[in-house]
Amino acid sequence: MPRIESPAELEAFRNEILSKRDPNKPCITLCSGSACHASGSRDVARAIEEEIDKQGLSQDVEIRKTGCHGFCERGPIIVIQPEEICYLQIQPEDVPEIVSETIKGKKVIDRLLYTDPATQEKIVHESEIPFYKNQERLVFGSNGNIDPKSIDDYLAIGGYSALAKVLFDMTSEEVLEEVKKANLRGRGGGGFPAGRKWEGSRNAPEEIKYVIVNADEGDPGAYMDRSLLEGNPHSILEGLTIGAYAIGSHEGYIYVRQEYPLAVENVNIAIQKAEEYGFLGENILGSGFDFVVKVHQGAGAFVCGESTALMTSLEGRAGEPRPKYIRSNIKGLWEKPSVLNNVETWANVPLIINKGADWFTRFGTEGSKGTKIFSLVGKIINTGLVEVPMGTTLRDIIDNIGGGIPGGKKFKAVQTGGPSGGCIPERLLDLPVGFDELTQAGSMMGSGGMIIMDEDTCMVDVARYFLEFLTDESCGKCVPCREGMRQMLKILTNITQGKGKEGDIELLEELSELAKEAALCALGKSAPNPFLSTLQYFREEYEAHIREKRCPALSCKELISFYIDPSRCQACMICARKCPAEAIDGGKNKIHIIDQEKCTKCGTCFEACPPKFNAVKKISGEPVPGPVPEEERTVARKSKKK
Ligand SMILES: Cc1cc2nc3c(=O)[nH]c(=O)nc-3n(C[C@H](O)[C@H](O)[C@H](O)COP(=O)(O)O)c2cc1C
Repeated sequence: MPRIESPAELEAFRNEILSKRDPNKPCITLCSGSACHASGSRDVARAIEEEIDKQGLSQDVEIRKTGCHGFCERGPIIVIQPEEICYLQIQPEDVPEIVSETIKGKKVIDRLLYTDPATQEKIVHESEIPFYKNQERLVFGSNGNIDPKSIDDYLAIGGYSALAKVLFDMTSEEVLEEVKKANLRGRGGGGFPAGRKWEGSRNAPEEIKYVIVNADEGDPGAYMDRSLLEGNPHSILEGLTIGAYAIGSHEGYIYVRQEYPLAVENVNIAIQKAEEYGFLGENILGSGFDFVVKVHQGAGAFVCGESTALMTSLEGRAGEPRPKYIRSNIKGLWEKPSVLNNVETWANVPLIINKGADWFTRFGTEGSKGTKIFSLVGKIINTGLVEVPMGTTLRDIIDNIGGGIPGGKKFKAVQTGGPSGGCIPERLLDLPVGFDELTQAGSMMGSGGMIIMDEDTCMVDVARYFLEFLTDESCGKCVPCREGMRQMLKILTNITQGKGKEGDIELLEELSELAKEAALCALGKSAPNPFLSTLQYFREEYEAHIREKRCPALSCKELISFYIDPSRCQACMICARKCPAEAIDGGKNKIHIIDQEKCTKCGTCFEACPPKFNAVKKISGEPVPGPVPEEERTVARKSKKK
């Protein structure tokens, strides 16, 4: 492939690609993101390739392995174009039928379609499934249409036209003004305006400047940046190159954790292709602008996502934060002005350039413009990645897109903002999601993790869990974080184990204040958030644990007990057979009893007891009823035959 030397050549090349593509040729797009890989998409891909070959259709059908489609709960997903027929949870055994019936016979296979749980109606088209219908997929939408390893696929959907536009039709000041006008706020942390950050670097006198992609993404349950990088790496490279042009940088880095091998692979392929085509390297598109990008693999420390720790790690030293007396856009990597933005922030840039700031600001709220990608996980029916306009309410995301809470359970809280975010209760479900709104509610946007919790979740234990994560991930450089968090974790652990005492809450509050004031970086400063937000909204759970030694959610192991209600036990022996601790005594016709000494509180008996008997009870904060006397343990059974 010869280098593309001008916008005219780019247009000509794009037209050539499109002219070779028949829009009516059947194309099987198969989600090949990490989540679908985990549910077997590689085997499905192999089966499709073999079947297409076997049925002699290799010339007539295109197979495209795309990035993540977002509806991860139902993977592996395939969408057959141009009809947009969407099949979910495909197994290799389904493939021969799909090829014969749908590809050849043009018939839809009902059993592989999505069934709307409300109406029982079968839905054929991907975009009409409620999960997708209620989204606005500006940034993430292309993931499902292109093969991330193919630069031609990206060019076919208009890729690199924004770069050509800035290099030939806009001055770097105009680019900066457009990004500022769009009020693009950073998608990875505190929502700092990207334009202002860029402006600081641009105005700095140094000659050497850097632009960096933060793809460290280590929040439990979050995988939107990883999926964007896996599924549409060129959009991030294009955004980064535009940013470099705006601030006058000629060298960029992608800091991605090595635990994301597919993201690393795809972004490396994308860089190589972009260099070959002339979108990266010297004299980009014949404009005279030079820019190179290098990939740096992080070793997987959460703190390395913090801006100064990330830059220290990039410099080849241990990834620890440093004080920000001077912001890193002025003095960052190797003490040079460095713009660090999140993956999703960079991916928004080509859109803003192509469609304009006025178009972009039509989406969102007064203070938060555009859309946001969230990873919707936890106790939710439709686990996956969703993109909605800023300002969408939590209720809309959870109910209309997420499909609500599984198993008929009640919603309890949603945790946003990653491990140092906060938990938002049911009464705030109509809160519009935006940077400022979430902060006011005691949480934050963070990079977009959204963990849903149901009535069985103990909020004290949730705070303990996130604090444990952060204590583990603390780099240990500053005392308030290293020691303060360890103490907070000890106290919270005691509370969940029934060893809490009066004064613990106040002590935790004091330690929280201290960490917020004195920790070196935002990891320590925001670490108390899970405790503070759960205390704000669920104080009664803390008090029940401390004063009554009771876990209201019946979740904390040390505070719960299981016993078998003798009036309901049918002596079926199911629980006794399944108990891994052999703690259940009983036999055929003999009412079962749990030996409290042997019971490990694993809950196997509770889950195994048939719902029609509902004999195993879980209790907290009350004594276990004494065992039935031996002579009353016989179950009177009705005879089956008269
Ligand atoms: C402990 C910690 C971890 C972080 N991890 C990430 C991360 O994985 N990805 C990210 O984009 N930002 C992360 N941030 C925020 C970054 O420090 C920084 O604000 C962000 O990358 C700036 O990009 P943005 O303005 O586009 O959001 C983290 C911050 C802290 C304190």
